[in-house]
Amino acid sequence: MTDESKVTGRRRFLQYAAMVPASLGLSVTWAEAEEAMVPTARDMEGPFYISNTPVVTNLNRFGKTGEPMRIAGRVMNAASPETPVPGARLELWQTDGRGRYHPQDKGDYRDFRDDQIDMRGTVIADSEGRFEVMSLFPAEYWPRPSHIHYWVRAEGFRPLVTQHYLDTRPGNRPHRTARVIRTQKPALYPAPTIYLEPA
Ligand SMILES: [Fe+2]
Repeated sequence: MTDESKVTGRRRFLQYAAMVPASLGLSVTWAEAEEAMVPTARDMEGPFYISNTPVVTNLNRFGKTGEPMRIAGRVMNAASPETPVPGARLELWQTDGRGRYHPQDKGDYRDFRDDQIDMRGTVIADSEGRFEVMSLFPAEYWPRPSHIHYWVRAEGFRPLVTQHYLDTRPGNRPHRTARVIRTQKPALYPAPTIYLEPA
């Protein structure tokens, strides 16, 4: 994240602070406040985005080995944080269990063979803005913590590119982070709620 986007994110946080759910109370920590920040802050696209990936129920399209994981989350309207964004289109991409992207390249789905496109895909949110997709726990690659990339698009909203961080080390990007619940089989990654800004 650039310094400029940090500043923008914090300015937006202050702008929208009144919309943070009252349930967070006055004892809210900065990390909790950032997690609740609406709209969701943008983050780098990174070098490996492939557009127009197919709609999938499992990002692990070709049975790669690793720790199976279910990703579940929700897309909401930042201007009305209790209102879901039905039909939001989410493009996800992440590393496999060994820290590799497939492909380690950027472009469009049609530029590649279908079997080169893996650990990525498109998911459509349901009528309540909820989405769910199977995957593998993404391995870290130096120097980045485990993360999942998102492009989120919905009619009437500004497109959002962001990243979610998993099981990060203390002090390392505390926002938009959630613990993987490994007591569930398969492990559950409750993704931070995504708040889209109306266009
Ligand atoms: Fe990445």
